[in-house]
Amino acid sequence: MAPVSAGRETRRPEDLRSHQWYGTDGLRSFSHRARTRQLGYLPEEHLGKPVIAILNTWSDINPCHVHLRDRAQAVKRGVWQAGGFPLEFPVSTLSETFQKPTPMLYRNLLAMETEELLRSYPVDGAVLMGGCDKSTPALLMGAASVDLPTVFVPAGPMLPGHWRDEVLGSGTDMWKYWDDRRAGLIGDCEMTELESGLARSPGHCMTMGTASTLTAAAEALGVTIPGASSIPAVDSGHDRMAAAAGLRIVELVHQDRKLSDILTEEAFADAVTTVLGLGGSTNAVIHLIAMAGRAGVTLTLDDFDRTARTVPVLADVRPGGRTHLMEDFHFAGGLPGFLSRITDLLHLDRPTVSYDTLREQLATARVHNDDVIRTRENPVAAEGGVAVLRGNLCPDGAVIKHIAAEPRLLRHTGPAVVFDDYRTMQRTIDDPSLGITADSVLVLRGSGPKGGPGMPEYGMLPIPDHLLKQGVRDMVRISDARMSGTSYGTCVLHVAPESHIGGPLALVRTGDSITLDVEARSLRLDVDDEELERRRALWTAPPERYERGYGALYNEQITQADTGCDFAFLARPGKVPDPYAG
Ligand code: FES
Ligand code: MG
Repeated sequence: MAPVSAGRETRRPEDLRSHQWYGTDGLRSFSHRARTRQLGYLPEEHLGKPVIAILNTWSDINPCHVHLRDRAQAVKRGVWQAGGFPLEFPVSTLSETFQKPTPMLYRNLLAMETEELLRSYPVDGAVLMGGCDKSTPALLMGAASVDLPTVFVPAGPMLPGHWRDEVLGSGTDMWKYWDDRRAGLIGDCEMTELESGLARSPGHCMTMGTASTLTAAAEALGVTIPGASSIPAVDSGHDRMAAAAGLRIVELVHQDRKLSDILTEEAFADAVTTVLGLGGSTNAVIHLIAMAGRAGVTLTLDDFDRTARTVPVLADVRPGGRTHLMEDFHFAGGLPGFLSRITDLLHLDRPTVSYDTLREQLATARVHNDDVIRTRENPVAAEGGVAVLRGNLCPDGAVIKHIAAEPRLLRHTGPAVVFDDYRTMQRTIDDPSLGITADSVLVLRGSGPKGGPGMPEYGMLPIPDHLLKQGVRDMVRISDARMSGTSYGTCVLHVAPESHIGGPLALVRTGDSITLDVEARSLRLDVDDEELERRRALWTAPPERYERGYGALYNEQITQADTGCDFAFLARPGKVPDPYAG
């Protein structure tokens, strides 16, 4: 595991942030020491040592993080051995599978919890444990706002799925076989077998879905132990990585290497390059913009589109790639191997948590399997997988993962079939009287950050039954929703502004012609401006769903997809006093 940078330094106890809690000659320090005796620790076990908070998103309800309860012990082992004092903090879990309407509604809540815990307790450095989709950005957003030395421990992908003689990708194959069932190709018996085969160990989804994309982004940013993000969750190497993170965080505190030293503009540029070169999830666009915002870095949709044109997709991992899964990617060299193939596109002189420069970190990185991590001469796609669209239907932008689409649809004009909300769409999509053909453009609104609420992953609208039976497997679909990173198809997502606040998507009518042209980066509603103005005059805003509680705060504060869906009051710059400074 990673050697560390530069010579060992040791901060004097009185320079540690936790000294204010423990080391002063006053009643409060006396009380904190007495309460630490109550916890069962001797003075020599913790006084003068860096206090390391381990923020753990373990929960019985989260299969992607269920192993993190044990894994925290390995982090603690590392912290003790390096001379630190580890304290585990359970924080809320964001389970992509179980939390409704979508964990995206709660990403900012975990970010707030992370920020406030780190600030309000005697913490000198933090280890963040997560990986299921939104937990990675949430933890890093909160930590960036506090800016302590921080290491991220990615949960790691689950083992590849298996069914009969097939290797299954969680998510991706769930959609595929569900469609097969709807098309009458397989029955209940096969579905029961699939239930036990799709996800066969702890860990996050093992495709290049949102989880793998975001943990890879974290590694590319430089906040993980090198090579950490692809280690399978149940591999012994995952324990060793967690221990290395524990060892490393104590050194980072002594070196006073803060998160802001790592999360630079160059680091975010490299993270964008990485997620595009991996053919990663469209969700990364929203999350990286939000994470960058917390780090004081401006990242825009146009940065993604511009970068995409220069970065080839080299990772042949499903669903963007054709064949492989994260375990294959890991043994092919993992993220260090992948990055070693695109060093000319990276900023190599920036620091990471382990090295003074990314160049040093990648010095020994190699690719061991050119089928999984392709060469530059033989990419999966010549350009990055995500394109940003503009036009009268999405003045503030929309996103499409065009490498997961059928090429014939990337330039398409067709009549809209509009659904006002997800439930109506679910109830009526198979109704033959809607007259949906393979050329129709399916439009779903009411699914954005406010309208969803929480911008659920509804963006891969189902193909109507009768078309599935004819063999149709892709259609143009447009929404203000997101799409699961394991989904695929010609799905235009993140339309901004969303319909709920009166974006042009709210004005589309069934039968209107819509033109998608990915090469021209354009999405147009072929209706003239005067007619659109007439429709706008008739439009009324839907009622807000939440009259109280967290949902009401969310409604007030949520920003649109193109700016990252952070809360306005969290995204804005400004000072927050340290608890002992006030
Ligand atoms: Fe947790 Fe896919 S459900 S990562
Ligand atoms: Mg997902």
